[in-house]
Formats: sequence, structure tokens, C-alpha cells
Amino acid sequence: MNLERRPRRLRASAAMRSLVREHDVRVSSLVQPLFVADDRQPKGEISSMPGIARHSVEGAVAEARALHALGINAVMLFGIPDHKDAEASSAHDPHGVVQRTIRALKRDVPGLVVIADLCNCEYTDHGHCGILDERGDVDNDATLELLGRIALSYAEAGVDVVAPSDMMDGRIGYLRTILDASGYTAIALMSYAAKFASAFYGPFREAADSTPQFGDRRSYQMDPPNGREAVREAILDLEEGADIVMVKPALAYLDLVRAVREISDVPVACYNVSGEYAMVKAAARNGWIDEDRIVDEMLVSFVRAGADVIVTYFAKAFAERSRTKSPNA
Ligand code: PBG
Repeated sequence: MNLERRPRRLRASAAMRSLVREHDVRVSSLVQPLFVADDRQPKGEISSMPGIARHSVEGAVAEARALHALGINAVMLFGIPDHKDAEASSAHDPHGVVQRTIRALKRDVPGLVVIADLCNCEYTDHGHCGILDERGDVDNDATLELLGRIALSYAEAGVDVVAPSDMMDGRIGYLRTILDASGYTAIALMSYAAKFASAFYGPFREAADSTPQFGDRRSYQMDPPNGREAVREAILDLEEGADIVMVKPALAYLDLVRAVREISDVPVACYNVSGEYAMVKAAARNGWIDEDRIVDEMLVSFVRAGADVIVTYFAKAFAERSRTKSPNA
């Protein structure tokens, strides 16, 4: 028996553990996603995501104000439009639900960073992330043009960060060029660089009404077993000028958060997605797990893996709890 080394010495008390703790989750690094529903769309709690609601524009502003007061620096907007068609035309409507929300937030909560998710799936009647070609596949280059129009409409509304989640090739370089050419050089691009075709998005699709009407997203989102390819996607986006690169989902992809952190000289984000949220909520409601402890453990695993920014539906609850929690618990 070799008992010269006793790591337990540093676990002996709460103060000792706190003294040597390696990582902390900072409320200031969390991003709360917000769903904003157009005038005729139902509002209120999403059944598979207890505690998360579809807001009206005014509701989103009130929620954002509360989040900002809790120390949260950023929200990420998802729109649920009244009108859907094959060309996602309401996505770039200057009076669209996201554009109106951006304007209202910049006016009423000016200290908050407003990030807008950039994708077409909530706006197309077929539910895919872009323009379809004659075979029913998403046409990459035609979709880029559309993404550019949407990004410009967000920029005109005053967005701080555009976050493309469509997974089209070349979109970061394309969007950077379009934004810069129109004078929007200060708008940052947060790229969903490694976004997987994941079953963890299930509840989101109910929330945002964006389930594909046929097929799936495997011809544009990544194949879950591929790690090297995730790094390659991140490198491409860095070369094209991404300001932040994201890995999504988070929990089942922590190895890739670490791998991307190691090759990236810009902040790395991870997206703790709807299915990850719903699983915790469901188990907690059954009394099977301790929700607060699970959330703390999940969020710190993202930090430990190397994430600088964490997009999570738990942001508000975590921030509320941080106010009252003793710092060396
Ligand atoms: C839009 C988009 C999705 C999510 C973020 N942006 C859905 C999808 O790709 O199907 C998922 C977020 C979540 O599950 O919380 N493309």
C-alpha cells in the first residue's frame, strides 16, 4: 500500500474544496435562447420544455430585462413567423418577428448583447434549412444568397451578433463579405461550426415549429460519429472569419468542445440543446435526479471541456440560483 499521496486532503472541507476548485461557471458567459412568436402564433409554455415559453415581442423584452438584471449578458433569438413558404420570405421581412424584437431589445435593454439565430427552417413550409433543388435537397449556393438577405435585415434592425445554424458550406465567408460591403463591419459572426444531425433537437422543433415535412437534415448537418470533420468545419469557419465557433449539441460532444478549443484562437461556444434540457426536466419531475446539482455539474463540464460561452435554457434558473448560493458551497 502506498499512502504517501493522499488527494483527499484537499477535499476535507467546503472551504478547502472551494480554495482549490479549478473551474467556475460564470453567469456572464451564459446565453439564454428566447423564442419569439409572431402575432397569430400561440404563446406560452412549451410542453416538452417546462419553464421555457414562446414569447410575444413585448414578452421577450420583459424577459430580456429580467435576464439582464440577473447578470446575463446575451440572448439568442428564434422566430416563429405567421407566414411560411418555400422561399422563407418572412425571414428577411424588415417587420418580421425577429427584426421587431431586435429593434425593441436594442431600444429597451440597450446593455444586452442581442444574438439572432440565422436559419430558414422556421420560415420554410417544408421545414428544411434552405432553398430546395429539384431533387428535394437543400441547394447550398441559392441558400447562401437567402442567408445574406436575412443577415442584412437583422443588421438593419441593430443586431449585435449573427449566428448561422444552417450548415451551408461557405456561409461564414459569404456573410462576412455581405455585411462588410454594407458597412456592418462591427457585427460579429458566431458560427454553429460543428452542428450535428441530432435527435437532441426534438423539443426545439416542437417549440419553433420547424420539423422537416419530409426527409431529415443529414445532407447538411454533420454525422454524429465524425470528430475530425468537426475540427475541419471549425478550421474552415475560422479561416472564413468566424468571431466565435460553436459546437452543438454539447453533452454528447464534449470531446469536440475540447478539440475545437485546442485549435481555435477565438472564443468557443457550446449549445446545451433542447433535448438535453428536456431530459433533465423530465427526470427531475419524476423525482429521479436533483435538478440543481445536475445542472451545475453539466454546466461546469462545458467550462472544463473548454467552452467560453454556453448557450443554455438553464441560464435564467442558474443565474437566479447564483444570487443566493454561498460562494464556497
Ligand atoms: C435551426 C436550429 C435548430 C436548433 C438551433 N437552431 C434546430 C435544428 O437544426 O433542427 C436546435 C436548438 C435546440 O435543440 O435547442 N436550424
